[in-house]
Amino acid sequence: MQDKPVALVTGANKGIGLQIAKDLAANGLTVLVGSRRLEHAEAAANSIGEDAHALQLDVTDQASIAAAAERIRIELGRLDVLVNNAGISHAGKPGRPLEEIINSGRPSIASLDDVRAVFETNVFGIVAVTQAMLRLLREAPAARIVNVSSGAGSLTLNADPAFPYRTSFGAVYNPSKTAVNAMTLAFAIELEETGIKVNAACPGYTATELNNFEGPRTVEQAAREPVRLVLLDANGPTGTFSNEDGPLPW
Ligand SMILES: NC(=O)c1ccc[n+]([C@@H]2O[C@H](COP(=O)([O-])OP(=O)(O)OC[C@H]3O[C@@H](n4cnc5c(N)ncnc54)[C@H](OP(=O)(O)O)[C@@H]3O)[C@@H](O)[C@H]2O)c1
Repeated sequence: MQDKPVALVTGANKGIGLQIAKDLAANGLTVLVGSRRLEHAEAAANSIGEDAHALQLDVTDQASIAAAAERIRIELGRLDVLVNNAGISHAGKPGRPLEEIINSGRPSIASLDDVRAVFETNVFGIVAVTQAMLRLLREAPAARIVNVSSGAGSLTLNADPAFPYRTSFGAVYNPSKTAVNAMTLAFAIELEETGIKVNAACPGYTATELNNFEGPRTVEQAAREPVRLVLLDANGPTGTFSNEDGPLPW
């Protein structure tokens, strides 16, 4: 049994997830670095230090999810934090320019295979992993769930003609993040009485592989809001959607 609180970060082998894992370890948590490729998880865990452990976890694979939950139960005996960070912006080849990703996501031409694949990872992955980890999270004294969402999924922002990014609102990535927000609220409402806080964080537009490194923010900046929500005390909110500057409209 672990004395320190244990956090699982999905998709933590690179990008914002890796930075969240680093920051949580620096804040005294034992961190499970989730990655669909074990060797990538191991390399990332080694780069963080002895408080980080590799965990094979493909959020679209029920057997992988069940095996991960079982390993956590047997080897650590507790789980206090779940950061649902794993996400994709399209299901095509890596390295596509952002403009091409946005254009191929236009509602009139978007491939349904792409829509399904992105929802499978970004939305159904969160539901599946959260359900599998809830037994352990319910046993923790002050469990926290943070879903890494995006202002790109905000219906209120994108319905405003003055919102600068609204012309990128397509049928693939954006609505997957709208659905992440809906799932955040659904879990938060059901878990309200348990003390488990469930919140959604927007990391901001950040240079990672997801957008072919075109975002202006650094991963260090991007990790701040998800990490703040992990570290909320008992008085902190549940069922919120925010970025570093404060609450965001759903
Ligand atoms: N970058 C931005 O501007 C931005 C803005 C708002 C929100 N976000 C969100 O931030 C989160 C992290 O993205 P990022 O920008 O850091 O992108 P990234 O560098 O591409 O990282 C995405 C991570 O998700 C993992 N992943 C993808 N599919 C997976 C699966 N089926 N199972 C497990 N892991 C999987 C990837 O693993 P592999 O290495 O195996 O592919 C990788 O570790 C995402 O939810 C994204 O939507 C990003």
